Amino acid sequence: MKFFIDTANLDQIKEAQNLGILDGVTTNPSLMAKEGITGKNNILKHYVDICNIVDGDVSAEVIATDFEGMIREGEELAGLHEQIVVKVPMIKEGIKAIKYFSDNGIRTNCTLIFSPGQALIAAKAGATYVSPFIGRLDDVSTDGLNLIAEIRLIYDNYGFETEILAASVRHTMHIIDCAKLGADVMTGPLSSIEGLLKHPLTDIGLAKFLEDYKKGN
Ligand code: E4P
Repeated sequence: MKFFIDTANLDQIKEAQNLGILDGVTTNPSLMAKEGITGKNNILKHYVDICNIVDGDVSAEVIATDFEGMIREGEELAGLHEQIVVKVPMIKEGIKAIKYFSDNGIRTNCTLIFSPGQALIAAKAGATYVSPFIGRLDDVSTDGLNLIAEIRLIYDNYGFETEILAASVRHTMHIIDCAKLGADVMTGPLSSIEGLLKHPLTDIGLAKFLEDYKKGN
């Protein structure tokens, strides 16, 4: 399972990278705005800064919602760095753009997936990744994890190579459950990744080992 961090915060990206287990980064316009990164040039520079920190894929989202605009922006984003994956919204024009990018060797992440049908059509268009937003489904009393299971079944039935990128992961248990269901990738906040490390019995056990070592020395 690949681990992506879902942030535009460079310090957190560096911290996750230093753990040695980071496979990539996802961003979106809201995450950029949260870090105070505004204006096209600053945003493009920020993507390059992120690529220079991590080794893996970095999702960069188009703002246009028309086909020509998405192609123009996507080609510019893809030209920034070889690690860039163009993030395209799940709308009709987006599907056309994903097909175009796929035919032209540009990798894509189809974002804002909330149903298995959307994931199916994104895979048919040749998306590299699909991003089902599990946390946002949970927020409206719908089981986000069930969507991961449905997409896994459909993709396995037909051998689609599109990777399931579980997005809108909010906590550690989301990661565990996505791993059980066979999501290819998860993207979440640093806290959700660091939560995997923790167990009180580990802390108690280590404290006892160190205490017993001191007794004998
Ligand atoms: C995915 O790529 C999105 O950036 C993200 O996971 C959205 O998460 P949120 O629902 O916590 O905003």
